[in-house]
Amino acid sequence: MLDTKVAELLNEQINKEFYSAYLYLDFSNYFKDQGLEGFANWYWVQAQEERDHAVLFMQYLQNNGCKVTLEAIDKPDKVFASFGDPLKAGYEHEQYVTGLIHTIYEAANVVKDFRTMQFLDWFVKEQGEEENNAEGMIKKFDLFGSDPRALYMLDSELAARVYSAPSLVL
Ligand code: FEO
Repeated sequence: MLDTKVAELLNEQINKEFYSAYLYLDFSNYFKDQGLEGFANWYWVQAQEERDHAVLFMQYLQNNGCKVTLEAIDKPDKVFASFGDPLKAGYEHEQYVTGLIHTIYEAANVVKDFRTMQFLDWFVKEQGEEENNAEGMIKKFDLFGSDPRALYMLDSELAARVYSAPSLVL
């Protein structure tokens, strides 16, 4: 059995990951409404990855004899004034999620729960990649977003993103 605090944080993270999926579906819907199908696709794929993350936390808890409690998912409440707004909100959200993962890691470290720390190693690395991706989106948009032809090309580039299952399998 896992330490109570560690198990509680892992269970909360399931909700955070499902919220992330919900948030990115909201971004995807926004871009779809705006006619930017590539951006919509990019966040659609991102939402699928977030759902995978939630499932991995669920499976980890179950594999360690813990009960999973699913909580209500908050409504995404962001209102966007420009195409760049979701990109910035996405980057900020990933920084927030990185903080959550680190908090669980710290809790596991306090009780010498090396198994959970090893499980979380994948997420620590994943968060680094996700922050890089989100920051990269902002940089590209800042460079090219104001030129309609460049924006069209950027949208086409983002349309090419395809979903692939996570490399971490429990
Ligand atoms: Fe599941 Fe984007 O972190």
